[in-house]
Order: sequence, then structure tokens, then C-alpha cells
Amino acid sequence: MRKPIKAVLVGAAATALLAPGSINAFAHEDHGRGHQDQRATTLGALGKRAGVRIGTAVDMAALADDPPYRAKAATEFSSVTAENVMKWEVVEPSRGKYDWKAADELVDFARANGQLVRGHTLLWHNQLPAWLTSGDFTPGELRDILRKHITDEARHFKGRIWQWDVVNEAFNEDGTLRDSIWLRALGPGYIADAFRWAHKADPKAKLYINDYNIEGVNAKSTALYDLVADLREQGVPVHGVGIQGHLSVQYNAPHDIAENMKRFDDLGLETAITEADVRIPMPSDSTKQEAQAEGYDVLLRGCLLTPRCTDFTVWGFTDKYSWVPDTFEGEGAANIFDEEYRAKPAYSALREDLMLAAGVKGRR
Ligand code: XIL
Repeated sequence: MRKPIKAVLVGAAATALLAPGSINAFAHEDHGRGHQDQRATTLGALGKRAGVRIGTAVDMAALADDPPYRAKAATEFSSVTAENVMKWEVVEPSRGKYDWKAADELVDFARANGQLVRGHTLLWHNQLPAWLTSGDFTPGELRDILRKHITDEARHFKGRIWQWDVVNEAFNEDGTLRDSIWLRALGPGYIADAFRWAHKADPKAKLYINDYNIEGVNAKSTALYDLVADLREQGVPVHGVGIQGHLSVQYNAPHDIAENMKRFDDLGLETAITEADVRIPMPSDSTKQEAQAEGYDVLLRGCLLTPRCTDFTVWGFTDKYSWVPDTFEGEGAANIFDEEYRAKPAYSALREDLMLAAGVKGRR
């Protein structure tokens, strides 16, 4: 079903959203509202008016130890994703011994703050427990282990997860399936099985396939499109496509993202930007921060222009705790707030896009 706001955006305001100048023009209109209370103009609050949830990945150590981090996580966003604590290595560190503590804490935090939860992730090739990767299992045993994992985890959180990233990063860049422990042992059918098992365990959760470098139209996003079209045809319960959105200012922003997302939308699938961040080759400066703002802007506009795009999640909100410096040599400062929680141009860009979208809704 189309949300009215999205219908309006796609019709009348698509050109406005795509024309850089108009966003700024709208931002000027907002100056008179400076006295509104802080909470009413958070990304989450603006997102609600525009018909999308705005989320963040949450680092549980920071949430426990850093009060400003906790305050921002609680107030700025309307959904949260577990950055690590729902991954297999965390929830089942030794075989058969579950540890849901940190993940349960996040779910409780979200409930206390009126936020929805994206579950991340049931099936991946990374962050698997050592007992699994170094075990000598037959294909039949691995299938049973995977089914039990998906069933137990989805059942543990039943009714408390809005969207599950059921399958994460299954594709190579050329569109072939990634050579993983799952593909090798179970063949390509593991993907359909994972969705069926998750759906059985938590029938109300929206089930997503999630990947990176699928923002634009390319071999990888096209292969994913073909797969989900096929799964839908077979009646497999896949409901959404998660576009991670890990960008770098070194590369062109994916300006064809709306065109790409439309294909999935036309299949009747939900879409979401699930892990947005835009890396900067260090040291950062104001020119690079402007380019970064453009990256965030392109991702959010893709979502706002897509009727069934439900949410836009940033992969952490402060440069203080980003995964980027540990993973991409020489790059960092990928988030919308700096290490002191000062808003960067990217934060303003997101707010302005949301204000335009919300304003369009208001004018209807
Ligand atoms: C990353 C976390 O941010 C890091 O803390 C962790 O060490 C490794 O994983 N794609 C995903 C996420 O789907 O789960 C990854 O998160 C980032 C890339």
C-alpha cells in the first residue's frame, strides 16, 4: 500500500527533491520555527512526518558507558539496529549456550524510547562463532545447525523485531553468489530456507535480504533483483531489500539509487537504507564534509522517492565509535556527528530532506 506522503513525493515533488536548490529554499522557510522544542525537530520526529523511520546502529558498550551517546541514541532516532549484539558469535559463543543479555538490553532500550528494532542478522559469513567455523560438520549437520540458529533467535525476539536482516551479504560484486560456508555446504537453496525458517518462527516480522554496493543499478543489484523476483514467485516469505549504503567520498555518489529502488518497489517489496555512512580519506576538512553530506543526501532522497521505502538507518551516529577507521585504512569521520557530538553538514542535509518531504505532506 502506498503511503500518501510517498505518493505525493513521487508525483509532484520528485523534481523538487532532485533539484539541489529547492532543498535549501525550503530550509529557509523553517527559520521561523527556531523555538520549537528540540525533540520535535529530531531526525526521528521529522522522519515520522515524512513517512519514514530514521534509525541508528547502536554500540552497546557506548550506550552503557557514555551518557551523551545514550541521550542522543534515545532522542534523535525512531528505530535502532544492533551493531553487533544479535550476531551469531555474540548470541551463541559456545554451542547450545545462548547469551541474549546485550541484545535484550537493546530491545528494552528501544521499547522505553518508543523505537522500533531492526534485527541484524540471522545469516552471514562473518562474526560466526569459532565452534561453528572450526567444527567438522557434514552438510546435513550444518543445515540442522543453521535451522536451529535461525529458529531459536527469531523465536527469542518474537513480536519485538520490526524487520530482520535474515540474509546478509550473499552476493559477490559480479552478481554470483558468495562462496561461503553456507553456499558450499547447502547450495543456493539456503537463502529460501532461511526465509522460510525465520517466517515460521516470527510470522509478523518483515524479512529482509541485505547487502552493500547495491545502491545503484549494477551487476550485484541486478542479481539480487533477479533472486528476490524468483523467491517472490515461489512464495518464499521475503518482504524487503536492505541497501546498506556504506559510501566513500572517494567514489561518485550513487545518483541512480531511486531508479534502482524503483525496480524493487515495483515488485511489491519494501526497501530500506540500513547502514548509511560516508567515509572520508583522513584528514577531514570542510570540502570533504560537504561531499559527505551529498552522499548522505543521495541515499536519503533515494528512500524518500521510493513509495515502499520504510526506513533510513545510519551505521552509528558519531565519529567517536565508528567501525570505519578499523576497517578502511586511511579513512574515517564517516558519521553525521563528530567525536564531540557536534552536528556535521551531513546532519543538516538529512534534516533538510526530511523537512522538504514532511512539508510536501503538510501541503497536501
Ligand atoms: C560491523 C560493525 O560495525 C563492527 O563493529 C564489527 O566489528 C564488524 O561488523 N556490514 C554489516 C555490518 O552488515 O554488520 C558490519 O558491522 C558492517 C558491514
